[in-house]
Amino acid sequence: MKQLKDIKNILILGSGTLGLRIALASVLNGYKVTIYDIREEAFEQAKKIQDELIKMLLKAGTISHEDSKKALQNQTFTTDAKLAAADADLVSESVTEDLELKKKVWAQFGELCPKKTIFTTNTSSLLPSLYAEATGRPERFCALHFHDVFYANVVDIMPNPQTESWIIDLLKAYGESIQQTVVIMKRESPGYIFNAMLISFLGAAGALVTFDVASIEDVDRSWMGNFKMPMGPYGILDEIGLDTAWHIIHVFEDEKSIRFSALLKAYIDQGKLGRKVGEGFYKYPKPRFQDTDFIKG
Ligand SMILES: NC(=O)c1ccc[n+]([C@@H]2O[C@H](COP(=O)([O-])OP(=O)(O)OC[C@H]3O[C@@H](n4cnc5c(N)ncnc54)[C@H](O)[C@@H]3O)[C@@H](O)[C@H]2O)c1
Repeated sequence: MKQLKDIKNILILGSGTLGLRIALASVLNGYKVTIYDIREEAFEQAKKIQDELIKMLLKAGTISHEDSKKALQNQTFTTDAKLAAADADLVSESVTEDLELKKKVWAQFGELCPKKTIFTTNTSSLLPSLYAEATGRPERFCALHFHDVFYANVVDIMPNPQTESWIIDLLKAYGESIQQTVVIMKRESPGYIFNAMLISFLGAAGALVTFDVASIEDVDRSWMGNFKMPMGPYGILDEIGLDTAWHIIHVFEDEKSIRFSALLKAYIDQGKLGRKVGEGFYKYPKPRFQDTDFIKG
């Protein structure tokens, strides 16, 4: 049975949005990290975003210039799968959200990784048991799901039915060692903890508008006014991205979800994807809900 002190080398599969963040949090907290991807160009993009994150952390006083320079020396990028796998203690997989791809990647790394390696997946919407067998060691495989690592630093541990209990303890220790708040799920359940709550909340906000009960602004005004929150559900949807929200919601077939997907799609078709493009339900950088008179009505 392994302990946290046995975890030294982290292998990140996928150098995208989440992979680069988990990698950075790991090197900043003393781990050696290898980032593997099939696309060389993903590495340049990852380095750029990591630089921006480091600037943010320096500004917040969380790290020093010296710390970040030292940490980055412990991070390497490679497209060589065999080399990447050779001495991995823990794998954190963040490849594109596609079941067949994940099965393929896990079959590959299940073969290449040494016996000692522990396997984790960062999937947002798939249940780990769907591809646990592909790893060749389902008892050492578990979902370790990050949100955004630096801003939203909560991580879900979701075992598949075969995951051994010591893996959960070890992942909890690893999560805490990279400054995450760890929450443990007792069993597999779609959407983990936060996303399951968020989907219900946003779904209720969707129904209020699509069944013509209230306006978008009044739904947000009610949430913000009651809870003294900086934004309401439609402001949150703009942050998430309307396209991302649509991908999650359009698979549900109940009347509320069908209407909500149609509302999102109408905005998406006009190019209004949310804050990232400057317009969604609101216009940015100064959305109406930030006006001082918004809550007063
Ligand atoms: N973006 C988020 O907010 C978020 C949050 C939590 C979890 N996740 C999950 O993390 C995973 C990755 O999401 P992302 O947003 O970082 O995606 P992304 O598109 O930014 O990155 C995915 C990376 O995987 C790489 N890739 C594709 N095929 C590969 C292969 N065969 N081997 C190695 N790398 C390969 C791509 O080249 C790309 O760089 C998904 O499972 C997603 O559900 C994403």
